[in-house]
Amino acid sequence: MIDISPKNGSHPVAAAGIVKTEPDSWVDPSITYPSYKSFDDLIDVQRLRSLDGYITQRLRRRLKTDQDMKFYTGPYTLAGTQPGRPGSRMVYLARSSAPDSYFDLDKTELWQPTPDADEFAMLMEFIRTLPFRSTGRILIMYDDVPRSVTPHRDHVETEICHEFLWFRTNLRKPFFMLNPATGEKKYVSTYSAWFDSVNQFHGSDACDGLSFSIRVDGHFTDEFRQMIPRPERNAASTPSYWAARSEHSATNCNHK
Ligand SMILES: [Fe+2]
Repeated sequence: MIDISPKNGSHPVAAAGIVKTEPDSWVDPSITYPSYKSFDDLIDVQRLRSLDGYITQRLRRRLKTDQDMKFYTGPYTLAGTQPGRPGSRMVYLARSSAPDSYFDLDKTELWQPTPDADEFAMLMEFIRTLPFRSTGRILIMYDDVPRSVTPHRDHVETEICHEFLWFRTNLRKPFFMLNPATGEKKYVSTYSAWFDSVNQFHGSDACDGLSFSIRVDGHFTDEFRQMIPRPERNAASTPSYWAARSEHSATNCNHK
């Protein structure tokens, strides 16, 4: 089993000893945290759900051989919570040819499918239907024991907006966004989410049985990007800005 930790340079920000621990605070006033943008009305959820047994079977097989590395949250965990290695596992379906660097997630030219991608060929086919021009990291996160994922930010660079989609084939995993100022949690109730991973925290409660989710990073298509409203500043807040605009227009529609 391969292990990763900040000590061996898996997280460049921590490894470089950069002291920034909080993001710059300005966000557009229309945004409320916690929040996320569901893609359920933009992707083929029925096809996604149909992969549930297929992925479950393969992850159970992998559990028997204890071959997958542990998930690492990065250094930006919620104050007072446990360190960022909660014990859940990861399967990389695309891996970078460069040394691990969190800020390479969207350098799609660096990322190539791994041999494990063959085992999850139907999932890879589904991923090709998502609105990405090109993909970078492709990762399955899973666990089979009741174990929480420590609330954390992915990084603190507010002008970096990673284009990614988090998704799942069932609703089992109690995955949440958390406002660090208020402690309020919002559980993701949908099959897919793009979320602000900088200005708020995200994590997961413990749950019984096998739970898993998939995250694909990359570049959205130009056509898709045209749909995305952009905040004036704080690019990392874009998913929450979009969520705020979507809720606003839904409310207005309901009032008509
Ligand atoms: Fe994360």
